[in-house]
Amino acid sequence: MRKVSSILGTLIHAAECGRIEILEDALIEASPSGSIADVLTPEDKAYTDRLASAREQKGFLELEDGQYLLPGMIDLHIHAPQWPQLGKALHLPLEQWLQKHTFPLEAKYADLQFAETSYRSLVSTLLANGTTTAVYFGTIHLEATQLLADICLDLGQRAYVGKVAMDNPDQCPEFYRDAGTQKSLEETRAFIDYVRSLNQRGGDLIHPVVTPRFIPSCTDDMLRGLSAIAQEFGCHVQTHCSESDWQHQYVLDRHGKRDTASLDAFGLLTDKTILAHCTLADKGDMALMRKRHASVAHCPLSNYYFSNAVFPARMALDEGVNVGLGTDIAGGPSPSLLNNIAVAVTSSRALEEGVDPSLDGAMRGSSGARIDFREAFWMATAGGAAALDLKAGRFEPGYCFDAFIVDIKSAHSNIVGWPSLDGPEDILQKIIYGAAPDNVTAVWVQGRQVR
Ligand code: GUN
Ligand code: FE
Repeated sequence: MRKVSSILGTLIHAAECGRIEILEDALIEASPSGSIADVLTPEDKAYTDRLASAREQKGFLELEDGQYLLPGMIDLHIHAPQWPQLGKALHLPLEQWLQKHTFPLEAKYADLQFAETSYRSLVSTLLANGTTTAVYFGTIHLEATQLLADICLDLGQRAYVGKVAMDNPDQCPEFYRDAGTQKSLEETRAFIDYVRSLNQRGGDLIHPVVTPRFIPSCTDDMLRGLSAIAQEFGCHVQTHCSESDWQHQYVLDRHGKRDTASLDAFGLLTDKTILAHCTLADKGDMALMRKRHASVAHCPLSNYYFSNAVFPARMALDEGVNVGLGTDIAGGPSPSLLNNIAVAVTSSRALEEGVDPSLDGAMRGSSGARIDFREAFWMATAGGAAALDLKAGRFEPGYCFDAFIVDIKSAHSNIVGWPSLDGPEDILQKIIYGAAPDNVTAVWVQGRQVR
């Protein structure tokens, strides 16, 4: 894979939540290890000399008119094995969708040939959409999940990968359930060992994640065991939290607690925890998440189908909770994080305005619930990185050189640039609402070109 030395052009990133920074004629330099060495603008004294020497180097690239460099996006919650059912069976409630469609599909990953075909197709599609980091749920199968890690390394995507743990016979069918609690815990350990050995060969691209599917599918012994493993290895933890009415009620009935409190009681709510959805989280849940420095993977498109509600993203930000974005494939029927940024904005507007026209306007919505494109873009980049303790998602020295080019003039582009009418932030909005893989003309992860 080719390495970049530096790029000259317009850089767009969210420097902080809610603030977009646009750097024109900027020179972004990569270090040999694939970090950002420096970002210079024409106001910098050294700019002219550095640009002259950059031009001499192999791996220098000058963006053309209509091309913009964005930080690589981070999919904070995605089920890799569900790729073959993208767009299917979205009419069912979560519990039926899992039992009738999702578990039977995931069970097929006992077949490594099937896994290979599906995982290669998914990872290359995500890269083509500008997703440079993904936080994956695999399946219960050790070998297939190891293969997912191999494929991410091979295709050059930064990945956080978990072997799914689910041992509760009340909730998991016999054909798709861990063979036993202890065996599953041993396989989680084996998976962590495997990923660490991969990194000795391939740099620091792949990371293991401890992955209790969600409270309903795990016994208490499993939750305790996984918590101990996460602590021992210092791994991230991912699970689903307060996603739907059924799921939320199930945990109340079984543990007499809300999801966040229950996870906390098992030691599974820490600064390394990524909680998918949290749609039904209230202020108390948010306060606990903030206290533990846990992060939310907001999956706005999936929430429309499976969550019975819209995640209060504004409340989470105001309560100081870190939030990233996830596609939740195949709960969410799109591999595009740009699409999910747009839906995060749209759904927050639906929450604010309300959606029932039979109600009086004053009664319809939840006032002050909106987020805007700046905040949603931050979630898909720097917010996701913060959840992973990863220096990525922004163009700053010392951060990973993870980036992609959007060319608004590519063939079949849906983006209409209008220089005499567009302000600088307008281009980013147009990219969010209009960009497709056709517009993503190059992608780098850790300084290596992967598309
Ligand atoms: N809860 C438990 N498993 C799943 C899953 O695969 N997708 C979603 N959206 N929610 C879940
Ligand atoms: Fe999910």
